[in-house]
Amino acid sequence: MQTLTLPRPDDWHLHLRDGAMLQAVLPETARHFARAIVMPNLVPPVVTLDDARAYHDRIMATLPPGMAFQPLMTLYLTEGTDPADVERAAASGLVKAVKLYPAGATTNSQSGVRDLAKVMPVLETMARIGLPLCTHGEVTTPEVDIFDREAVFIDTVLDPLRRRLPELRVVMEHITTEEGVAYAAQGGENLAATITTHHLILNRNHILAGGIRPHYYCLPVAKRERHRLALRRAATSGNPCYFLGTDSAPHVDALKEAACGCAGCFTATNTLSLLAHVFEEESALDRLEGFVARHGPAFYRLPVNTATITLEKRPDPCTWPEKIVSGSGPVTVFNPGFPVHWHVVT
Ligand code: NCD
Ligand code: ZN
Repeated sequence: MQTLTLPRPDDWHLHLRDGAMLQAVLPETARHFARAIVMPNLVPPVVTLDDARAYHDRIMATLPPGMAFQPLMTLYLTEGTDPADVERAAASGLVKAVKLYPAGATTNSQSGVRDLAKVMPVLETMARIGLPLCTHGEVTTPEVDIFDREAVFIDTVLDPLRRRLPELRVVMEHITTEEGVAYAAQGGENLAATITTHHLILNRNHILAGGIRPHYYCLPVAKRERHRLALRRAATSGNPCYFLGTDSAPHVDALKEAACGCAGCFTATNTLSLLAHVFEEESALDRLEGFVARHGPAFYRLPVNTATITLEKRPDPCTWPEKIVSGSGPVTVFNPGFPVHWHVVT
């Protein structure tokens, strides 16, 4: 039997939602992860320090007794965001990043940014104080094919922004392409990229071939196989510019299995087992620790967790609930489509 003991991992991109959904999904993350960067795309969004403080308190009030978990809060950047509020939010220690959603790019992004010029004072403040910007890196122009939106964002939005503000610390969230992998690698110490679990497993055939699979639909949408392979090489490379952000994004089945189904894969429950499987396939189990527990804290200038987690490879495959039951309905747990033998034991 093989065992693997790592510092307790962190999730650098997570959707926890609110209310009944928060209650259902929070234990799924807190069971394995010490901290997570919590996305602010609630309705209405988490825009100000006061919003973030109130959301933080709701998360902590929902955490089951005996579980240790620290939510790292983010602010949702809008064209009305006040630079002084952002500076106070960073100084409070509660807020660890600001999230850029191009308006219309994804779930609950309608309050996002239409014109980057309008948020330059906020970005300049963030560059000065070292507060990271997390980007949903897709353009929203209808003329741009959905499979090209990440590459076009890098060329037309991200690269010009970083040339204009080289001191701005940026996390390219949930990269899905060779272009994203390559751009992150050449960006120096102010640039990093998160990679999700599901993008290491899925290519676009999994969504569309042999029937449409709504539970594999997320944004950015999974791309061709060569992009998935580039993401696998990046995640397992040991390069500290890449780290885990699951983008675990729960939606009730009724909203996923619909004529216009919404985007998001719910992977909190089985992410660590799946990652151990992927890293073993890539002969890189020794690099899992960097990806899930060391590179993220290094970029966010936080200590590595002292608590640990242990995984064991067993002959019997892992079993998970097919669905997590929430007060607003069932949420389907990501099904990788193959057996996984790495059990999280502590
Ligand atoms: C996310 C969600 O549901 O909030 N969905 C997704 O497909 N990833 C939003 C996001 O991160 O784009
Ligand atoms: Zn997300």
